[in-house]
Amino acid sequence: MTQSRRIALSSDHAAIALRQAIAAHVVAKGHQAVDIGPTTPESTHYPTHGVAAARLVASGECDLGIILCGTGQGIMMAANKVRGIRCGVCSDTFSARMIRMHNDANMLSLDARVVGEGLALEIVDAFLEAGFEGGRHATRVAMIDAAEGQGRAPEFSKTSDRSL
Ligand code: RB5
Repeated sequence: MTQSRRIALSSDHAAIALRQAIAAHVVAKGHQAVDIGPTTPESTHYPTHGVAAARLVASGECDLGIILCGTGQGIMMAANKVRGIRCGVCSDTFSARMIRMHNDANMLSLDARVVGEGLALEIVDAFLEAGFEGGRHATRVAMIDAAEGQGRAPEFSKTSDRSL
């Protein structure tokens, strides 16, 4: 088993059943699920839920976050507006591993209207089991942080980096 983590979970109305299945799955894997809902099927606004889960991760109350909406895109965009959050939408296990290994993603977004439950659980496992590789990737992640006003990334000051 991988290291036990506190995982924030949220979704909009399009992904309630899948989110609950993922919450049960991560608990079965030995993690703690901090599932902040919603639990009822009324139409709701994905930014509310994405930002709420992102704040749990950004504050350190949770180690990682998993969020869902129909496409995974809207809730991911909202979560990424919270300082310190690096969230990607993944519809395959390779991408889920890589956003941890290369991008040090602290949140995963899933597209409940695209992936089925079986694949979604494998994507979650890939995300949770992979670790950040550091090295050259740490420089690039620092540049992401610098773009939102955290820390410094000297590479941005080079004229040759206009092509970035
Ligand atoms: C809700 O209909 C849908 O727009 C939402 O779940 C998501 O796909 C947005 O990005």
